Amino acid sequence: MSAATLPAVLGGPPVVTAANDPAWPSAGALETAVLGEITDGGQWVGYDNHPARWRAVLEQVVADTTGYRYGVGQPNGTLGIASGLRAQLLARGERWARGRDQVLVADLTHASAHHGVLLGVAAQLGRAPRLVPVPARLDATMDEAVVAEYLAQHADRVLAVVPATMYGNFGAIDRIVALGREHDVIVHHDNALGGAARYDGERALTASISGQGGGKAAPSSEAGMTVTSDPHIAALLRADTDCGHGPGRLDPIPFADLETIAAGNQRLGEQSAGLWLVQWLRALHARLQARENRRLIGELVSGGGVLPPGVLWNPPTDAEYPPFFCLYLSCLDALEDELGLGPKDLRVALCAEGIWAEGGFTPTHQDPAWRHWADGLELPYEGSARVFDRALFVHTKFLRDPQFPGWLSEIFERVMAHKDALRGLGEKVPATTW
Ligand SMILES: Cc1ncc(COP(=O)(O)O)c(C=O)c1O
Repeated sequence: MSAATLPAVLGGPPVVTAANDPAWPSAGALETAVLGEITDGGQWVGYDNHPARWRAVLEQVVADTTGYRYGVGQPNGTLGIASGLRAQLLARGERWARGRDQVLVADLTHASAHHGVLLGVAAQLGRAPRLVPVPARLDATMDEAVVAEYLAQHADRVLAVVPATMYGNFGAIDRIVALGREHDVIVHHDNALGGAARYDGERALTASISGQGGGKAAPSSEAGMTVTSDPHIAALLRADTDCGHGPGRLDPIPFADLETIAAGNQRLGEQSAGLWLVQWLRALHARLQARENRRLIGELVSGGGVLPPGVLWNPPTDAEYPPFFCLYLSCLDALEDELGLGPKDLRVALCAEGIWAEGGFTPTHQDPAWRHWADGLELPYEGSARVFDRALFVHTKFLRDPQFPGWLSEIFERVMAHKDALRGLGEKVPATTW
């Protein structure tokens, strides 16, 4: 197409139409077969003396591919956070927790996930913690410099730090793990958005992944997983999902003669496990394309395409298989200064072309339901606000499609050719609700 093609928001033909829109979720005959086999087989849930089969396969595959030794199925990612915190609190004992009441959480995250933090601590200690939202760096993940400063002053009040994988980036998990060790506080990694990706740095003692259907890297109907490499923690996690009983002899987690604990009934059913397993296997293929697409898009925005360099920024990948929950591009000042366009102009242009683009999650300090936790904390929230304000967050289904870098290039070509007509449109055209 010529550089003069009109952008779709100005009336041109959209780049992505119903004919080439990537399917989501991308499912096939395997999902149908596995769900049929489980449904007809009659064992829809595993517990106690009825060991789960599909859940057991899934737990081993998820653990292996994320670099952990053990996985424990959960109903969802939120309860996965609760379970990781609960198991670590249980292992440390009530004495250690005395006088500690705070949990450092990511300011830029899916704020409802904080519910898992509140539940995990309350279930174990009989009291809810005070949440401390930690501002984000430009790559949208928890700012480890703020964590370091906060722990240097208040570590004796802190129970845990819960950094989150965000927008395709793990962030400084290894550094936060080191800070947790240095200050003797728990670290649980909310890796809800990191499905089928593998972080090679030092990992948190526990991490949790979401298999929720709404766009996660490997979706199920509703599912979650808590992972750890510590057999004792794994046994506690299993007990928490299984009426208080630890692993049996046929469990992927080594058998342990545990005393029964007051359990949380956090089971993962067989249909969800089977569906998630097949989607996880598909994601192992998708992550190869996602890795290549991030490389190509990195080149595109750093001056290897139609856009001038320094207008958009894609954080460098921090893992071999980076999470592909979405593509995150940040609009830099030069977008306004040199092209006269704002993030909203670019978002409406992309949406009209059929690309699901938005600002992403509302940071906790701006979320009407959660912002009270940031009150009174003198932390620098401008960084998180800036990420949200300037983000182009593009749905995962595009990042795994081989045509996507070409589509982006074509759209940027249209934008460059018609930038004067696009200026200010973001204030006039209503944002698409996807
Ligand atoms: C960063 C983050 N953490 C946790 C969760 C919770 O996962 P789930 O929806 O499976 O409970 C989500 C869900 O979107 C999330 O984005």
